[in-house]
Amino acid sequence: MATTTDKTLEDLLEHGLKDMYYAEKAILKALPKMAKAAQDDDLRDAIEKHRKETEGQIENLEKCFEAMDKKPTGEKCDAMDGILKEGDSLLKEFGGTPAGDAAIIFAAQAVEHYEITRYGSLRTYAEMLGMDDVADLLNEILEEEAAADETLSDLAEDGINDAAMGDDDEGEGEGEE
Ligand SMILES: [Fe+2]
Repeated sequence: MATTTDKTLEDLLEHGLKDMYYAEKAILKALPKMAKAAQDDDLRDAIEKHRKETEGQIENLEKCFEAMDKKPTGEKCDAMDGILKEGDSLLKEFGGTPAGDAAIIFAAQAVEHYEITRYGSLRTYAEMLGMDDVADLLNEILEEEAAADETLSDLAEDGINDAAMGDDDEGEGEGEE
């Protein structure tokens, strides 16, 4: 199994950080579009809050590169491009309909879950490599992603999914048809 270049866990960590640096910048661009499409004020606020957090996450990633003596560079992340592209088409198909906000949450949680899996792995690699400062920075991001995901679940469960069912609740009790 001789290879000309021996890739190690540290290389994988660096590659993953580049992917996420690219992904966070793409997310930062996509979030205002989602916020603008949101009909529910709390959902719009949550997306706006996460946009600000994302700016901080990009800075955290830059600090990770710095701690590893690397230049912060992005590497095209096909997975995030695909998730955001799907989010775009969901917005086109469902935007302005009763299911619009549910579709925004549907799309945004796919982003959050992808981020959670990647930051979870990368934090573990940093811990194993003894890069405590990198691990701490990644853990900070991971906690924000998890909290954002939970907020989205709460919003969905607190009424946005019900509203998406399209039934006119106010009409309840009135004669049908
Ligand atoms: Fe993020």
